[in-house]
Amino acid sequence: MSRTAFAAAAVSVASILACARGPASTDESLLLTSKAVDPGPRGGAPGAGGPLAGLGHDEVQFFNDGRDRFMEVDSVSGAISGEEGRGLGPRFNANSCASCHAEPAIGGSSPHPTLGFTKAPNPQLAFAALDRLPGKNQVVPSFLQRDGPVREARFILNPDGTPDGGVHALFTIAGRIDAPECALAQPDFARELARSNLIFRIPTPIFGAGLLENISDSSLQEYFAAGAAARKALGIRGRFNHSGNDGTITRFGWKAQNKSLLVFSGEAYNVEQGVTSEVFASERATAPGCNLNPTPEDTTQLRTHGGSLTGTAAEMSGDVIGFAAFARLLAPPVATTSSASELRGARVFTSVGCALCHTPTMVTDASSYTGQGGVTFHPYSDLALHHMGPGLADHVSQGAAGPDEFRSAPLWGLGQRIFFLHDGRAGPRNGGLVAAIAAHASSCGADQPVMDDGVACGSEANAAIRRYNALTTSDQQDLVNFLRSL
Ligand code: HEC
Ligand code: HEC
Repeated sequence: MSRTAFAAAAVSVASILACARGPASTDESLLLTSKAVDPGPRGGAPGAGGPLAGLGHDEVQFFNDGRDRFMEVDSVSGAISGEEGRGLGPRFNANSCASCHAEPAIGGSSPHPTLGFTKAPNPQLAFAALDRLPGKNQVVPSFLQRDGPVREARFILNPDGTPDGGVHALFTIAGRIDAPECALAQPDFARELARSNLIFRIPTPIFGAGLLENISDSSLQEYFAAGAAARKALGIRGRFNHSGNDGTITRFGWKAQNKSLLVFSGEAYNVEQGVTSEVFASERATAPGCNLNPTPEDTTQLRTHGGSLTGTAAEMSGDVIGFAAFARLLAPPVATTSSASELRGARVFTSVGCALCHTPTMVTDASSYTGQGGVTFHPYSDLALHHMGPGLADHVSQGAAGPDEFRSAPLWGLGQRIFFLHDGRAGPRNGGLVAAIAAHASSCGADQPVMDDGVACGSEANAAIRRYNALTTSDQQDLVNFLRSL
């Protein structure tokens, strides 16, 4: 893969602030003066996509089976050649987990037609026409572009002004050859866009997710406590999101809103593809002619047709168990930090305060999976929530995570990523990583000193960004080079 530097950042700060719904920063000390350039995704082989080191033979088999299921393509009936998975819709964003989790390898984030390893254009563009009856194509929402990120859409408010925050899927099965009677309309995205009621999320990569699942709450709290004094000095707060059910720390998703990889898999199957499972057994939409399969559409084999009930655990399991096993056993990205500049950049990362939220190193607790206890790994996240101010605020609350709170995004694998931040607003067109750093800075006008949830307005990362701004261009470039080595 040849390396394409992402366009310089000068334009990006303005465009990033302009696309925010909240007021732009009025504090000039926060405006990025960076001359550093994002060199673009690192070449070479993808540093991710395989199973964890040290697993047993059977576990690797389970991983491979889960990976196959992750790549399976769904149709409504499962009777279309090449689309043998069953249960798509009534509403959906894509027809396979791997449509969205593809870059730089299966399990990753959004693909890109020219910069990526997969070289695939945005796969969501195809769904408006795929398997449709003549004259029955659907509308491609304006916010999907060929070289833009895969997106899911959430609405901020319901029509009556109460909070919504839920995912509204882009397509329906109406007019498909395997759902000829279904007439379910797509949401009116143009209208929601016009009244600024639409926010986006891009896929988080799931490499190394099992390691994040395998740290106890007490270990997470210990890592967090260790940084308390240094955080305080930079005005960084942070708190964990918790499950409303068992009270433990939730850790997956952009707002750390989700508890486990199994729950996330069940939710993704239903929300992204419309496939019901033992985890989420009810269809999200019901309409005449649109609910064509008995539920749940994906199940563990509780009975066979005829013969005896035998098979490997993987064969007998429902897809959601396979997806979760794939995510859980997927190795973290391998960093290549080695040049003098990258090594200097690692020190800058710590000295300006990035590491106070993006915790570099953790160790797993005892594990039921072979060789996975006591493993040292480098997620570059505290898995805690931080206020990022009005610039990044998406005005959606999930659990304890308020309108402008996000999980410190794990930075492992950054070296081969193309789009950044929860809605993918930083990417090849506007400076990539440099734009992502710029977006961390955000303060409020004097007329708006508190956020909707009563917390003092502004980003907890402002002091770190001021320090970044005070660096020489060469130190800034070292930092960006370091990020591209992760
Ligand atoms: C239409 C695109 C799309 C499809 C299809 C999709 N995902 Fe995702 N995935 C996302 C997005 C977007 C997020 C982040 C969601 C959020 O935090 O709001 C995500 C996040 C995740 C995460 C959380 C990882 C982390 O650490 O935060 C897991 C696990 C996951 N997806 C699994 C799956 C599985 C399993 C499937 C198939 C059943 C799937 N996804 C299909 C878009 C997709
Ligand atoms: C106060 C905590 C905090 C500090 C300090 C901080 N970050 Fe972040 N970082 C976050 C959060 C939260 C996100 C996710 C924001 C979003 O998606 O809206 C993030 C996202 C990112 C991303 C995008 C990752 C992705 O998956 O898209 C990069 C790159 C990044 N940070 C780099 C840095 C660098 C470099 C520094 C130091 C100059 C830094 N961060 C300082 C909290 C912090």
